[in-house]
Formats: sequence, C-alpha cells, structure tokens
Amino acid sequence: MKVLGKNYKTIWLDPVDSRKVKIIDQRLLPHEFKVRVLESIEDVNDAISQMAVRGAPLIGATAGWGVYLASVEALEKDLDFDFVYKKSLQLIDSRPTAINLKWAVSRMISKFELSNNLYELAENLKKEAQAICDEDEKSSIKIGQSGLDIIRDLSYKKSGATVNILTHCNAGWLAAVDFGTATAPIYAARDAGIDLHVWVDETRPRNQGSNLTAWELDNEGIKHTVIVDNAGGHLMQNGEVDLCIVGSDRTTRSGDVCNKIGTYLKALAAKDNNIPFYVALPESTFDWSIDDGISEIPIEKRDENEIAFISGKNGNEICEVRVTPQNSKCLNIAFDVTPSNLITGFITPRGVCKSNKEDIVKLYPENYK
Ligand code: MRU
Repeated sequence: MKVLGKNYKTIWLDPVDSRKVKIIDQRLLPHEFKVRVLESIEDVNDAISQMAVRGAPLIGATAGWGVYLASVEALEKDLDFDFVYKKSLQLIDSRPTAINLKWAVSRMISKFELSNNLYELAENLKKEAQAICDEDEKSSIKIGQSGLDIIRDLSYKKSGATVNILTHCNAGWLAAVDFGTATAPIYAARDAGIDLHVWVDETRPRNQGSNLTAWELDNEGIKHTVIVDNAGGHLMQNGEVDLCIVGSDRTTRSGDVCNKIGTYLKALAAKDNNIPFYVALPESTFDWSIDDGISEIPIEKRDENEIAFISGKNGNEICEVRVTPQNSKCLNIAFDVTPSNLITGFITPRGVCKSNKEDIVKLYPENYK
C-alpha cells in the first residue's frame, strides 16, 4: 500500500544482500517512517517482542524470515541444523497469542527434512519465507474480494450514502504483508467506488488504531475519524455505525475469536444494536487444534509501563510521558476472546461464512479430519 504515494510492503528481503530483511519500524509511526534492517534471528525476536512488527499475519511472515536468517548464520559459522532448530523454537515464545507465529515456524521447520546440507537448507528456507509472504498478500486480496459484497449491500441499502465502518486495533496492511485483513474489504470497496468512512478505535495502550490504522487510511486517502475506545457503543446506539470489521490473532475451529483487548466489548455493543460484526482473517489465523477460545487461548500480558506511559510527539521529538500515579499498579492484558455467538460471520480468502463449526468446515473441510 502507499506511503507518501510510494508503494510498500511491510517486510521484504534486501534485493542486493540476501542476509538482510527489511521491515517498517512500526513503533515510530505515525511520526516517523523508518525502515529497519534485521540481520539475525535475534533481531527478529526483538522486532516481534518489542512490536517493531506486530499483527498476526506479519508476525508469522517475520518469523519465517527469522528462521531463514538463523540458517544463514549457521552456514556462515559452520554450525549445524540443530542450531537453526533450537533458535526457531525460541522464536515461538516471542509473542504467545497470535497463532500465525507458531504456524510459520512449524512450516519453516518442515523444510528441514528436504535439505541435505546447510546451503540447501538456507535456499529452501529463503523460498519458504518468501512463499509465506506471497501467500499472505494473495490471501488479503481475496479477503478484500470476499468482504466487498457485504459493504456493497450496505451501500445499496443506504442508496449510496456513506457506509460507516468501525474497526478496532490495526488489522490493516501494516498487520499483514500488504492490504491487511479487516481493511482489505475497505480498500476493495474504495476501489469499487463505494462511499465509506471508517471509525478508528484508538486502541489503548499501544494505540495501534490512532497511530497505525489512521496513518494507513490517511496515506490511502480514506475518510476516517479516530475515536476513544469507549465511544463505539454510543455511536452504534445513534445509528452512526453500519458495520464492524475486526481482525483476529487466533480463531478456534468453533469460531471463538481472540483479538486485541476491547474487541469483545465492541461485539457486545454491536449485538445489542443489531449491527453486523465481522471478523476478517487468513487461514493461518485459525487454530484447528482447539474449540474453546476462553479456556484454551493463551492471552499475552505485557509490561505495565505500556499503560503507565504514553508515547507521542513533542515538537520534533518522539517522547513518552507518564499518565498514571507513580505508585499505581497497571494490568496490561493484550487480547480478549469474543465468543462465536457474538460474531455475524468470517470474511476469509475462501468466502464469507457464519461463525460456527458447521459453516467453517464447509470452507476448510481438510482441517477437520
Ligand atoms: O498486539 P498486536 O498489535 O500484534 O495485535 C494485533 C491485533 O490484535 C489486531 O487487532 C489484529 O486484528 C490482529 S492481526 C490482523
């Protein structure tokens, strides 16, 4: 998608030096656009855990490149497959909730047995990491096409008047390789000439909405308004929201959705106000091994300083200021689970389905053996 009119993806291999992977450092947005170079699996671990990259599909794609970088290091230092394997497993712990991380590392590890030596391993892993990125991009494009009809129908019902869509956190192109998950139908609808406007939840404490979603919509010229996290219910009661679309970090085979903290409350408010609440997600975000989201999905707890301090720009400087009393404790729960009964449906690369096992199985029969 566009940054100041120029097309970018969120992650790419340096075309002239294949020991370098490049990312956009999302911690500096929206104030500064900076590309950061990752040169080792440690760099990748740090970028994921410190949230220089974030968003389930992008975390998976970055992990893929991390495994590849470990194999490059092994090749250069004459280490063995075991080094790459152990380092790769450590990567899985860098963030516990998004299933795409484990999915990507497992997919990379499955290439080990096809490789006879470290050179072959590095070549195979490079191809696989690139394939994960390419597939994610295609998957987002398909999610966009799947979700377009939902927005088109609403536009038709409103006789072409502006369709107001509420989204939470950042499930935009910055959270994936390109186009995003929740934003993909929005970009597709914009391209189809549909008049729309996006309510952007600021998404405390890391402000992925006000810092990232607003920034990418602004760069794409899409009408949007940032709201505080608690405003959604009021807007829904007053007819200001036609549709909610959010992303997911992990979705169970029965349709429970884990996503950024606060998603559950939006789904409750949407249900109470009869507003369609959709979750847009790629296949890599389904956890086919579990049914019950509340008891089975590990919920990440992050540093309490992410709540105690807020970051912003003062003059030319990005700085942090304390917003809580020095002695107050904070509890930083990063995700919550929205039970399937509160969700209208899933927008997937294979089409739209209801949020229950019977309907998901029709789209993904091979995962229910
Ligand atoms: O903590 P983050 O920024 O990695 O979490 C991302 C989210 O929870 C997003 O809401 C998103 O929907 C999941 S990724 C498309």
